[in-house]
Amino acid sequence: MSVPIAGVGMTPFGKHGELTARQLFAEAALEAFEDAGIGPNDVDEVFYGNFMGEFAEQQGHSGPLAADMAGVTAPSTRIESACASSGAAVRFGVNRVRSGEVDVALVGGAERMTNISTAEGTAALAAAADALWEIKQGITFPGAYSLMAQRYFHEHGGGREDLAAIAVKNHQNAVENDLAQFQRAIDVDDVLEAPTVCSPFGLYDCSPMSDGASAALLVSEEFAEEHGLDPEVAITGTGQSSDRLALADRVSMTSTPAAERAGEAAFSEAGIEPEDVDVAEVHDCFTIAEVLALEALGFYEQGEAISAARNGETTIDGDLPVNLSGGLKAKGHPVGATGGAQISEMTKLLRGDHVNSDAVADAEVGITHNAGGTVASCVVNVLEVVS
Ligand code: COA
Repeated sequence: MSVPIAGVGMTPFGKHGELTARQLFAEAALEAFEDAGIGPNDVDEVFYGNFMGEFAEQQGHSGPLAADMAGVTAPSTRIESACASSGAAVRFGVNRVRSGEVDVALVGGAERMTNISTAEGTAALAAAADALWEIKQGITFPGAYSLMAQRYFHEHGGGREDLAAIAVKNHQNAVENDLAQFQRAIDVDDVLEAPTVCSPFGLYDCSPMSDGASAALLVSEEFAEEHGLDPEVAITGTGQSSDRLALADRVSMTSTPAAERAGEAAFSEAGIEPEDVDVAEVHDCFTIAEVLALEALGFYEQGEAISAARNGETTIDGDLPVNLSGGLKAKGHPVGATGGAQISEMTKLLRGDHVNSDAVADAEVGITHNAGGTVASCVVNVLEVVS
């Protein structure tokens, strides 16, 4: 069952100084209300994604707080699924509207990360890994994904130049996106010569620490009709899956079955195949993550997506443009806001009011892929033009 997206909102991602996550969410929600042409009193339920509020702001229990800041008195729950928190919040909203119990769901998320040091942020993010078997051994997320990249090179070939092409592509896509943290083009040499973060990753293989928020208003078709709304884009399929948290407990370090299962479920609900997808926003927290996502979603066989960006297949003028927002790499990655931001950017891309919409003017079907940890959680949503 299709769930129309009546409105979306998103703060610029980047450094927001003294602004708290609650203030950022209020900004994104206000924009979504204006976009939809409805108000806080219309909302029946709120699902708010946030991962590290306790670490960065000493703030837990942020569901009611987020609703209050958006002027909403309806029930509100925080959804925590690491970097997939707001993708999961979107999915909860979709399913509540589909259940018929809710006509309007406000979904999205926020994160504040730059008010703490990189070292503190790295420790906070590491809590999304297995405390017993990974964190105690000193694993960090750049470390975990670099192990996956090394293993991928070992099993399938490819190298740093292939990953560099992904960073170059995503930075290029963000150049005109005012909401992106980095609006500057880089070239392959910039990537290869950047300081090493964790081999094989340099600075430009990594998403940054970011502040920001995202929001979307999901409505029932009956509500849209009764209120004279005419949403152009709807969520037509949603899927979520989980995997073992620790990399060492997995059968393979170079495949992401949670994303495979989430993708299959979302595609099946929407009644589409991978070849029907015109444009994709995928979770490129590190360059290798984009490769793993494209393979898990069935766009490429295992071991083949590594050269997709380098061959121009996923660039803005390629067969399947990927991360036209700039992705997490260049748009930024305030973790609890990211899944909702993918919905906001994809909605605009399909409606024709995104700065990169012209590149996908005929696009009818878009997908978002939002992952938590080393893809121990994954949410995939299918968005389609419906009017
Ligand atoms: N890409 C491009 N530029 C970046 C960047 C990134 N990922 N991160 C920081 N920069 C830039 C900054 O804008 C700054 O530029 P300036 O000097 O022109 O102002 C410069 O690099 C230094 O920034 P700083 O914040 O001091 O970098 P850092 O070395 O402390 O942190 C990383 C860089 C990559 C280690 C950090 O961003 C990181 O840990 N990223 C991964 C986050 C993560 O794990 N997320 C969860 C994913 S699962």
